[in-house]
Amino acid sequence: MIRVDRGRLRRFDAEKLLPEAEGYWQEYIGGKSPYLPFLGWLSAEGSAWGALPAIKEKAREIRERADAFVVVGIGGSNHASRAVIEAIGAKGIEIVWMGTTLSAHEIARQLKGLEGKSVYIGVIAKNFETLEPGSHYRLLRKWMEQRYDSAEMARRVILTGTPGSRLNEIADENGCLFLPFPEPIGGRYSLFSPVALMPIAAAGLDVDAYIAGASSVERALRSGENQDALLFACWRNACLRAGFDIEVLTSFEPRLKNFSLWWRQLFGETEGKDGKGIFPAFMNCSEDLHSMGQYMQEGSRRVIETFLHVDDPEASVPVPADPGFGDRFDYLDQWDFADINHAAEQATLTAHEAGDIPCSVVTVDRLNERAFGELFYFFTAAVSVSARLLGVNPFDQNGVEAYKKSMFAALGKP
Ligand code: PA5
Repeated sequence: MIRVDRGRLRRFDAEKLLPEAEGYWQEYIGGKSPYLPFLGWLSAEGSAWGALPAIKEKAREIRERADAFVVVGIGGSNHASRAVIEAIGAKGIEIVWMGTTLSAHEIARQLKGLEGKSVYIGVIAKNFETLEPGSHYRLLRKWMEQRYDSAEMARRVILTGTPGSRLNEIADENGCLFLPFPEPIGGRYSLFSPVALMPIAAAGLDVDAYIAGASSVERALRSGENQDALLFACWRNACLRAGFDIEVLTSFEPRLKNFSLWWRQLFGETEGKDGKGIFPAFMNCSEDLHSMGQYMQEGSRRVIETFLHVDDPEASVPVPADPGFGDRFDYLDQWDFADINHAAEQATLTAHEAGDIPCSVVTVDRLNERAFGELFYFFTAAVSVSARLLGVNPFDQNGVEAYKKSMFAALGKP
């Protein structure tokens, strides 16, 4: 089960905010929140909207017949599944992430990589207006039509969107599997909906363990048995009120890079509005200690840091002895990289705290499906309450919509 260091989270009298945070959480689960239409994500099990059997069946077919499964989606439509799959690794199939860029060079590279492969695609778009996934779906559709007949196209294309949307109609017109992007679940909250479940299942990962991990955090929060996510929300707001307006998520597992991208979207899009919010950033260590380490240690004191610690690296690489070579690294004899990495993480925490950075530590046992379910639910519940403490709407993203509109205007969309 996910653990936090509660002692660290009590700085700046964070606990004084706890009754307010609990009030918001009770409002959510008691069905009395003004944001009721956006709370579909609260139930991890309910988020699948009954589509889990269809997802599992399609995943079986994909895994039998495809070399590559292309996920077409951006932002909330791909960050969660990408975080899980890139960290754990797809089993026996290649997962390709498209719809994330407008770079012709990158798109050409991705299409070239698909040549000669048996390809299935999953297009995910809540509104089906977003430029990147919409344009890539067209491109891939035409690419696939040159290789597959209409019956095969119907089998190989899965569309996930708002029920009743144009994407739903296209699925019906072409006989494709349509999966719901549930109306009361926003993009960045779509973690346990078909949006994330279809790619995770297609990658051969355990969706049941993933949902079970989330449900365990959900249950503990609902029953009041474990309110660490609320305390985490209080800590961030207490730090902000004390003048710290940047948060860095630090991890020493490069496998968490895509998780950090997910986390950055979740916090940035949820809180960065009305001229408020903590700016979310991340560090992948130890590499980033050699770029951001200086600022973290001695730059302006506006930064708080959340260490995402993984107990079990699931690998062992001892440093070989090399007596007499003279490289002056003999002090590493007897060390394993698993322990060196943990020692470096602990040393960084000590140094940053000595440099007056308020730090918190969130720990998971190992990076498996269950842990990702736990992490996603923990941070999502935390941000939904943190935004209320901040005084902003946790569920809109008008800034993203504004940029989309200005891009449409630039491209002459009617
Ligand atoms: O969280 C959000 O709302 C956004 O990041 C969206 O997920 C992203 O813009 C993609 O939107 P859509 O799924 O409608 O294409």
